[in-house]
Parts: sequence; C-alpha cells; structure tokens
Amino acid sequence: MLVYTEAMSETVPKTFYLETFGCQMNAHDSEKVVGTLLQQGYRQVPTVEEAALVLYNTCSIRDKAEQKVFNRLADYKKYRAQGKQFGVLGCVAQQEGEKIFERAPYVSLVCGSASYRNLPQMLVQLETGGKRITGLDDRATDKCFETEYTARTNPHRGYITIIEGCDKFCAYCVVPYTRGKERSRTSSSVLDEARQLVDLGYTEIQLLGQNVNSYLDPDGKKSFAELLAAVASVAGMRRMRFTTSHPRDFGHDIVDAIDAVPALCDHVHLPVQSGSTRVLDAMQRLYTRDQYLERIAWIQAARRDISITSDLIVGFPGETEREFEETLSLMDEVGYDSVFTFKYSPRPNTPALRLDDAIPDLEKARRLAVLNDRQKQIGIERNRRHVGQVLEVMVEGKNPARRQWIGRTSQIKVMNFTCPVGVELTTGSYVQVRVTGNFPNSLVGEFVNASGESNLFHKSVPEETSDSLRG
Ligand code: SAH
Ligand code: SF4
Ligand code: F3S
Repeated sequence: MLVYTEAMSETVPKTFYLETFGCQMNAHDSEKVVGTLLQQGYRQVPTVEEAALVLYNTCSIRDKAEQKVFNRLADYKKYRAQGKQFGVLGCVAQQEGEKIFERAPYVSLVCGSASYRNLPQMLVQLETGGKRITGLDDRATDKCFETEYTARTNPHRGYITIIEGCDKFCAYCVVPYTRGKERSRTSSSVLDEARQLVDLGYTEIQLLGQNVNSYLDPDGKKSFAELLAAVASVAGMRRMRFTTSHPRDFGHDIVDAIDAVPALCDHVHLPVQSGSTRVLDAMQRLYTRDQYLERIAWIQAARRDISITSDLIVGFPGETEREFEETLSLMDEVGYDSVFTFKYSPRPNTPALRLDDAIPDLEKARRLAVLNDRQKQIGIERNRRHVGQVLEVMVEGKNPARRQWIGRTSQIKVMNFTCPVGVELTTGSYVQVRVTGNFPNSLVGEFVNASGESNLFHKSVPEETSDSLRG
C-alpha cells in the first residue's frame, strides 16, 4: 500500500517491522499494536530491510534486556540514510523517555504502553514527517488499551489482558514506573472478548496481568476468582490459564475455583523471589515466608494435582549466605515444578538502588548456579510422578528430525511424544498421551488416542495401578 506524505514529498510504502522483547504482556501488547497498524492501512513485513517503519517493543526488567534495544538501534543506524523511521515502544521507552532521542537521534517515536490508545494519532504525525513524537504522559490513566483489532499470532491460545500496571512497588522492580498505575477492565468486557475468541475457534485462553489476581472489577460485579470461573465456563473453552499471581493477593477462592471448574488448568505461577522473610521485607514484597507457604499449602491441598512454578532472585543487596540458603530450603519445602531464576539487576529509579551491600557478580552467578542445580533435582522428582499417567496434551507442533510431536499438559509441562506411523495430528487438537519418561523440564510419552472431552481431574490417574509407576 502506498501513501503520499507531504513533508517527504514522495510516496512511502506503509510497511512496518516490529520486534518484541520481554514478558507475555508485552507480546500481547504487540498483537494489539500490530492490529492497530493494520487497521491504519499498514502492512507487516518480516525484515527491517523491507520496512519503512521499524518498531521495537522493549523490556527493561533487567539490564541485559534493556541493552538489547540499544544494540539493535546501533546495528540499524546504517538504514537512516534510506529514510526509514524508527520507533521505541514499551518499558524502555517509558523509562528513558526523550533521552532516547539524544542517544539515537534517528528515532522518531518514543511511546510507553499506557499511551498505546493514542497510537493512531501518533502514526498520522509520523506519516506527515513528524519528529520526536512522544506518548509518555499517561502512566496515571485509569484506562486500559482495548481494541477490537488484535492481530493474534497463535490460532489456538488467545491472550486477554485483564489488568494493566502495578501498584506494588517492589524495591527492585521497574514495572510500576514503566507500566503505570494498576487498572482493570470490566468483567463484562473480558467475558465478551473470551466469547469472541471461543467463537473464532480458540480453545485455550490465558488471562494476563503483572499481578493478574489483583484484578478489581470497575463495575464491582465479579471478584478475580469469580471472573476465572465465569471465563472458564464459556461453552467451548477447553483450557484457561492466568498469570502472574502475586502471593499477597492470592486467596483460597482461586484454589476453590480450580477445583470447581474443569477448564481451569492445573497450574499456578506464584513468584516468591526469596525464601527469607528478612529479604522479602527489604524487597517490599508484602508477605513473609510463612504466609507464602500457607498459600502453597492451600494449593497442595486441592483435589486436583496443581503444578506450582515460581520466580526467584539471588543476590538482592545484603542477602547473606544463610538467607540464600533459606531460598534453597523453601524450594525443597514447596517442591516447585519449575522456576525462573534471576540474578538481581540494579534498575533505574528503584528504591533498591539506595541499599548498600552490593553482592559481587561472581557471587550472584555462584548462587544462581546452586539454585538451578537444586531445581534440576527437584524438577526430576516432580516430573517422575507423572510416569505411567495418561495426560491430556494440546498439540503444538512436530519435530520431524526426532519423529516426535510436542505439546503441553494442563499443568503447562512440555510433552514430547511419539505417534504410530500413519497417525497425523493437527496443531491445536487435544490428545491423550501416556507418560513414559521425564527430564527436569519436560515429559516424554506415547500417543494413546485423540481426546474427546478434556481429561479433567488427573490427580494421579495412572493407567496401571501399580504403585511403582507413581514415582
Ligand atoms: N508481577 C510479578 C513479576 C513480574 S516481573 C510478580 O511480582 O511476581 C518478572 C520477574 O522478573 C519477577 O518475578 C522477578 O523475579 C524478576 N525481576 C524483576 N525485577 C528484577 C530485577 N531488578 N533483577 C532481577 N530480577 C528481576
Ligand atoms: Fe514488579 Fe513487584 Fe509489581 Fe511484580 S509486583 S511487577 S515484581 S513491582
Ligand atoms: Fe519487561 Fe516491561 Fe514486561 S519491563 S517484563 S516488558 S512489564
């Protein structure tokens, strides 16, 4: 598609390239940004070379993530002479603001996620040759970015953001500054979108929020757990997930909902960050080790076999060896199915920057390695319990080299499985798979049959009853 722009006095193709960094919310924001651009007559292209407008949707959660965008911009400086326009979106945009124009003068647009609602107007400014266009002033907004033009990339699993921003202000974290004030969508708008997705053929839906369970219905109609139950009960929905839950706002009603509503998946991601109450307090996480473990006990007492995953940070300023060991002992106590582990990374504007007792990088790396080793052991044990069970898997693809199919269980575990010669599966379908082996982070199995109704309560339903198979 071509458009005539007065300022440039030439025809410029309305093509764009978008690269996304960071979390699932950023990935989903990008789906909405792409939809908005397509609606404005733009066409998405797969390479920077082909694009007139190059956009980066950025992440600044840790220093490494932030550096990626500046490395990209430095790489692409050479394209400036070709008249390409560059835009920086997302968390680095909001964090660095107009400083980005100083560091990379060929950037024309800097826009944080709280301002995406205004993208159509900003695009018009870009098209008329505007320079230094910003969308940075909306962090205190009450409005969410809702659009009917989301360009979803996965045809089976649909994401729906139900709450944006964060009001928790953990001492190490940039998110409250980059994504702004916590604000929720109405439960009726969320339910409408879920129904639309199911009508379009989506069978798995994932509700998103930096703290998804801090959801507060502006209409006051539904609590978070009630919303979960309502969305998961939409006819045609097979699986529903939600991420990320904050321990402070994690109520027993969430576990009750999982037990009561079959389509809710057997998985809770509940980041703890540290096993030491002293460190949790310094992090301003708003809960103690015991309070966290109490929530874990609720989950473990459920009728369903709910997998539990977490995020952990090592080397927060002042973390002693003994406090680090408390994180290890907490991991043993919980028995996580898997964890994401991070070295503490000092971030701009955050209160933790003022804390003394920085821990040398080498020591952080050592603690990280110890932690990952420990999880490897725990993960193997946790996954072994599935050997012998028949689990329902949503098929995600095929690995022809290994003649294996790949999919995910309700517990969000990756399953690599074989299929008899001649049986072809379709992506997005549900099949029953017998687990024959396991690794720390995945299961191995063999196809049993195509699945009709979802396999709902698979808390230890081994095909054979021998205890030796339970692991
Ligand atoms: N809202 C979620 C987490 C969102 S950020 C929660 O509170 O649980 C994802 C993860 O990045 C966090 O759980 C944390 O483990 C990690 N993280 C955030 N800031 C970090 C920092 N400055 N250094 C290292 N890891 C960090
Ligand atoms: Fe960051 Fe804490 Fe908010 Fe999570 S709860 S996004 S870690 S400030
Ligand atoms: Fe990164 Fe922003 Fe998400 S900092 S993790 S993209 S909220």
